[in-house]
Amino acid sequence: MAFAALLALASLATAATAAPAASNATCSDGTVVPSDVCCDFIPLAQDLQNLVLQNDCGEDAHEIIRLTFHDAIAISRSLGPSAGGGADGSMLIFPLVEPEFHASNGIDDSVNNLIPFLSSHPTISAGDLVQFAGAVALSNCPGAPQAQFLAGRPNATAPAIDGLIPEPQDNVTSILARFEDAGGFTPFEVVSLLASHTIARADKVDMSLDAAPFDTTPFTFDTQFFLETLLAGVGFPGTDDNVGEVASPLPFGDTSSGGNDTGMLRLQSDFVLARDERTACFWQGFVNEQEFMAQSFKNAFAKLAVLGHNPDDLVDCSAVVPVPKPAVDKPATFPATTGPQDLQLTCTTEKFPTLTVDPGATETLIPHCSDGGEDCPSVQFAGPATDAPS
Ligand SMILES: *[C@@H]1O[C@H](CO)[C@@H](O)[C@H](O)[C@H]1NC(C)=O
Ligand SMILES: *[C@@H]1O[C@H](CO)[C@@H](O)[C@H](O)[C@H]1NC(C)=O
Ligand SMILES: *[C@@H]1O[C@H](CO)[C@@H](O)[C@H](O)[C@H]1NC(C)=O
Ligand SMILES: *[C@@H]1O[C@H](CO)[C@@H](O)[C@H](O)[C@H]1NC(C)=O
Repeated sequence: MAFAALLALASLATAATAAPAASNATCSDGTVVPSDVCCDFIPLAQDLQNLVLQNDCGEDAHEIIRLTFHDAIAISRSLGPSAGGGADGSMLIFPLVEPEFHASNGIDDSVNNLIPFLSSHPTISAGDLVQFAGAVALSNCPGAPQAQFLAGRPNATAPAIDGLIPEPQDNVTSILARFEDAGGFTPFEVVSLLASHTIARADKVDMSLDAAPFDTTPFTFDTQFFLETLLAGVGFPGTDDNVGEVASPLPFGDTSSGGNDTGMLRLQSDFVLARDERTACFWQGFVNEQEFMAQSFKNAFAKLAVLGHNPDDLVDCSAVVPVPKPAVDKPATFPATTGPQDLQLTCTTEKFPTLTVDPGATETLIPHCSDGGEDCPSVQFAGPATDAPS
């Protein structure tokens, strides 16, 4: 009698703990997910790494992260659904339409890299593929957050219209307005998304360059970009005054080291956002604040990734997103030859952090070389060619 009662209690207890698990699924590699639809993304991650990304935060990773943005931001609350479906994979479904728009110059590499996965992984929609590939690409970059990933975006049914992607020559008012119109992004969220520029290069802003990074730590998702954007510009890594480009603080890098000298390129949009009263304090607030920057990016990126969808209709498959490489954990530092005297700060309410200056030789600027003169030192770039989210 007592024994039977105990047994009954035990099976009740088992039922109580087992019931919630019944809605979960366990993928073949042991990952527990809310639904077995998530399991299909595990072999996709492996194929993306093996066939495109090579576990590297290189050119292909940067380009796919840019694609996540260009696909998702093409939506408008004021123009209505016919303007674009947001994060719907329309770039892949209509590869001869949106990738041809001027603002997406250079995006075709990432589009072409991803299109084969539509047929090799037919259960996965184009919109899910783009955003999941972005999450996998981010995981290759030391210090990046493990992105949220929700699955279940339907395939795009129409391409987006031209003119919805902000460009580096746009002013702060129009950039902030575009983000607000696309998905109610706040100025803080706009600055947060620009953490993606810490792992970005441009190869279409100045066509004379193979590629130029936006900061001196090209392969790591760290706060150096937010510091370096605040330094006074002194010259151009290639030709002068391209549309959307302004003078960079390190146009030739440190040519004394004989190593990977990085001529840095600066986008006009980054320059103005770093100095505008609406965004300058947010910008400055990320300097040397790795965790805060990564978490803020993660939140804004999660919002970007579901533009055009009701998150309640999607399944949370974040558990299948690879864990990112750990942060390098190096504090932000003034590059050799620069220092606090070069800061152009407009945020008056926050104190700027105290940072050290990297040791190194004085950079010698050779002004005529910005025109590509024949007797100029050749500039090498650490990063492979790619475009930044712009
Ligand atoms: C179901 O899976 C999620 C992760 O996807 C986990 O957080 C949760 O604890 C799981 N629930 C049970 C009852 O195992
Ligand atoms: C999405 O469209 C592509 C291209 O037409 C197709 O290969 C794929 O099976 C579709 N995926 C889904 C989930 O509908
Ligand atoms: C910003 O750009 C828009 C679009 O080109 C233009 O209409 C507006 O006048 C500009 N605003 C400022 C303050 O320059
Ligand atoms: C230059 O870059 C290459 C490839 O990224 C790397 O293997 C090498 O160690 C770098 N050299 C220096 C001096 O930093």
